[in-house]
Amino acid sequence: MVWGMTEKDKRTILVSGGAGYIGSNCVKELLSRGYEIIILDNLVYGHRELVDEVLKVKLIVGELQDRALLDSVFANHSIAAVIHFAAYAYVGESVSDPAKYYRNNVLGTLTLLEAMLAANVNKIVFSSTCATYGIPENIPITEEEKQNPINPYGRSKLMVENILQDFDVAYQLKSVIFRYFNAAGADPDGQLGEDHNPETHLIPLVLDAALGRRDSISIYGADYPTADGTCIRDYIHVSDLADAHVLGLEYLLNGGNSNIFNLGNGNGYSVLEVIETARAVTAKAIKSRVCQRRAGDPPSLVGSSAKARKVLNWQPRYYDLRTIIEHAWVWHQHRHGNFR
Ligand SMILES: NC(=O)c1ccc[n+]([C@@H]2O[C@H](COP(=O)([O-])OP(=O)(O)OC[C@H]3O[C@@H](n4cnc5c(N)ncnc54)[C@H](O)[C@@H]3O)[C@@H](O)[C@H]2O)c1
Repeated sequence: MVWGMTEKDKRTILVSGGAGYIGSNCVKELLSRGYEIIILDNLVYGHRELVDEVLKVKLIVGELQDRALLDSVFANHSIAAVIHFAAYAYVGESVSDPAKYYRNNVLGTLTLLEAMLAANVNKIVFSSTCATYGIPENIPITEEEKQNPINPYGRSKLMVENILQDFDVAYQLKSVIFRYFNAAGADPDGQLGEDHNPETHLIPLVLDAALGRRDSISIYGADYPTADGTCIRDYIHVSDLADAHVLGLEYLLNGGNSNIFNLGNGNGYSVLEVIETARAVTAKAIKSRVCQRRAGDPPSLVGSSAKARKVLNWQPRYYDLRTIIEHAWVWHQHRHGNFR
């Protein structure tokens, strides 16, 4: 219900996937700004202990595709908006098992959107990805770049973007779509960070090598047309992502129209720069080995976030690679440091 909401009701937010990496960091930020939070997460990849011990908010363990559950969540709470992180995000797995990705990421989201409409909840912040651009023609990538994803994961996210645009026209469902580049780092207090299993992201893999949890780090190609021959990517601190979500949410709560924003650092860093910086931060040798290029890896992916800075007044605080890795290292040792 929108009419007759109390001030407190206005601030109750349903966060799907809030037990995961970006979602949990976002919940921490929302709590610090006085929002009431309900997390829906099936815990396939989420971490219950982080919700129970750090965030201390209501966790509903359940499935996006469980319409009856969603209806009861909306019936029992006055939810002002949804922030929707829940999805599967392994590119390789999406190629070998696309059905799993279309079912979870597209059908799951459709179920959530229909439950929202039935409950008159008409605001959603959605986690999309730079993977919807595929291999871009222009760097830095703006929101105007043609979207041409090259794997089912990216296509599943683009499908949801299209659904959201259609739902605005037909049902006035307002959305903020965030296309993230590579989320990285950890909460500066060291309480929440990246712990995917399996892990595929470069910085935690490099830190695993620093901790001795893996022998070495693989560099997929050192003959790209970049300054040092390795691929360049855009790493955005998870706390800066969290800030952007609060701004996107408030933009919608204040009556903003549907909109789309890139969220990236704007600075690209090469794989070698990440490894060198991690060596400096951890004071560990970190072995690396050069392997064959992987299919579908563009030489450089760097985003322009000028629009989010301008429209949302987003001001990223931790864009320096060294700071991102320092925060990730504190978390990584805390989480995995007993390995040796
Ligand atoms: N990590 C990145 O660099 C990155 C980049 C671009 C986009 N994204 C997107 O951001 C979102 C969050 O990513 P993350 O890195 O925090 O991933 P994550 O796996 O840590 O978090 C996702 C959470 O969603 C939950 N979940 C998945 N399917 C669900 C379902 N059907 N029902 C209920 N819960 C479900 C998982 O248990 C997990 O806790 C995802 O949508 C991802 O596609 C991430």
